[in-house]
Amino acid sequence: MIRSLCLVLLLANLGAVDAATIVNHILSRTHISLDGKWNYIVDPYDSGYYDYRSQPYDAVPQPTGGYFQDRRNVPATDLVEYNFDRSATLVVPRDWNSQDSRLFYYEGAVWYRRLFDYSAAPHTRVFLHFSAANYQADVYLNGEKLGRHTGGFTPFDFEVTGKLKEHENSLVVRVDNRRIAEGVPTLNTDWWNYGGLTREVCLVVVPETFVADAVVQLDRKNPAQIRGTVQLAGPQLQQPVTVTVPELRLSATVTADAAGRAEFSLPVDSALQRWSPEHPRTYEVVVSCPTDRLAERIGFRTIEVRGDNILLNGQSVFLRGVCLHEENPVRGGRAYSPEDARQLLGWAKELNCNFVRLAHYPHNEYMARLADEMGLLLWEEIPVYWTIHWNDPSTLANALQQLEELVTRDRNRASVIVWSVANETPVSAERTAFLRRLVERARELDGTRLVSAAMEVHKDPADGNTRIVEDPFGAFTDLLSFNEYVGWYDGNIDRIGKVEWRLKYDKPVVITEFGADALQGLHGPETARFTEEYQAALYRETIGMLRKLPHFRGTTPWILCDFRSPKRNLPQVQDGWNRKGLVGENGIKKSAFFVLKGFYDEMAGATKP
Ligand code: GCU
Repeated sequence: MIRSLCLVLLLANLGAVDAATIVNHILSRTHISLDGKWNYIVDPYDSGYYDYRSQPYDAVPQPTGGYFQDRRNVPATDLVEYNFDRSATLVVPRDWNSQDSRLFYYEGAVWYRRLFDYSAAPHTRVFLHFSAANYQADVYLNGEKLGRHTGGFTPFDFEVTGKLKEHENSLVVRVDNRRIAEGVPTLNTDWWNYGGLTREVCLVVVPETFVADAVVQLDRKNPAQIRGTVQLAGPQLQQPVTVTVPELRLSATVTADAAGRAEFSLPVDSALQRWSPEHPRTYEVVVSCPTDRLAERIGFRTIEVRGDNILLNGQSVFLRGVCLHEENPVRGGRAYSPEDARQLLGWAKELNCNFVRLAHYPHNEYMARLADEMGLLLWEEIPVYWTIHWNDPSTLANALQQLEELVTRDRNRASVIVWSVANETPVSAERTAFLRRLVERARELDGTRLVSAAMEVHKDPADGNTRIVEDPFGAFTDLLSFNEYVGWYDGNIDRIGKVEWRLKYDKPVVITEFGADALQGLHGPETARFTEEYQAALYRETIGMLRKLPHFRGTTPWILCDFRSPKRNLPQVQDGWNRKGLVGENGIKKSAFFVLKGFYDEMAGATKP
């Protein structure tokens, strides 16, 4: 893995741009897809991984077994109790739960195997890239272990230069989606634990010395220039690197240093059209050196907080948002394709949103790329969700790794304005210290965006109608962003109008969740929970309350679409779905959709730049 090398190399002063790997620019690189049908073996007892003494087969030099060996054409005399060639297939990318009803609730290990040919090109290097695999992936090539990745929503890669054969390379991946207490997320979540190779798998071929990473952004401190760094990887590092923006006739050439790192800046003038939701203008940026060339479309904008205001390109912006999970409710299963992203973000656009909170984990890269194109600002989050093991160093290391993988993948995306390090975590000194480490790391990796988390509210013990937000962690975030469920988990709708708020910080307030369950098509009096009328009334009342909230700068109601959750079991209403969507699992909009749209149309009119 080239990540650790780059991490050491790259801590720079430009917003502390950090490590770069091949992962960052995968969609801008030529790649050989390994998607499609993969043979699979479901292995609930881990018989393919451990021997009967629970020792991993792959931990010894002369393994006596293990599915990773992918034994084939076994002579009748040999005892081999698996055979991928004769096993069923699953489609990749996709979760396994929505492909095979026997795997709908399955949590455990599944072995995937893909055979492929490869003809090597001279003077090139090859990386095996996974856009994500939930939750833990052990990867083997031709019987050799390449490594393990933990974390279900971020990309990882292994260099396989010189390890490939011309024909029938055997790629075996053991994916284990078991929830573990010390994991990120931990045991308890309100979303479906889809398992598998949920995103693309491919080979990426690059020159021996290549552009491992390029970070290109408008300088927040001096927006009259584009600044950035380029990181080369390979034997010839001290090469001239040229960064060009052809449409703006901008170009700069700098020689990379001994570590392959080059810093550059490009003066810009009024010809540059800033990226915004109203004008999602991107420019082709070409980064080249004598041995390699990388081109990517990038938008240029600034985002900052000044007092209780959020400024986009120096102008105050109100965030008309909505939350969404990475799920295609109509087809079922994890969303993974550009079409899925277009469906989901298209509904957000119909709501007249200019902002979307991608909850509660990094979504696939198509979301951010499409948000750049469609003009939607994004909140991206890592799954530090509810009661994480704050004192476990491996949990912190895992959370930091997921954050690094997310930021290094998406930091060229103009749409992304907030890195969120947590959701609804209980206040304690250990927890706040844990989250502060994440905030520091996010700022090191990228000093050009806002950092926050979805915090919580508590009742004033002395006065039943007062709600207080005084989380000590709020002192370290750019926004005062919190979830509130007055009218659903906290009383009925009639309580909403009575609530007084006491907020500890004079920061921009973003309500990152509010909402109510409603079964699409279920109608009744506004007081009847789970009806569309109740949900719509809750939205009307909540919007009324939020208008009076000091420093109110935006919201992302919970949630765009109904989504699967094993925690929601009310028969004939929930049936394994969280019904707080504004769009039902059938793709039909509920009444509250139009209540929110009405509010956003008004806000869009009122705040037209
Ligand atoms: C929580 C949580 C969500 C959950 C929602 C709900 O606030 O952040 O993940 O789905 O509430 O209860 O519907």
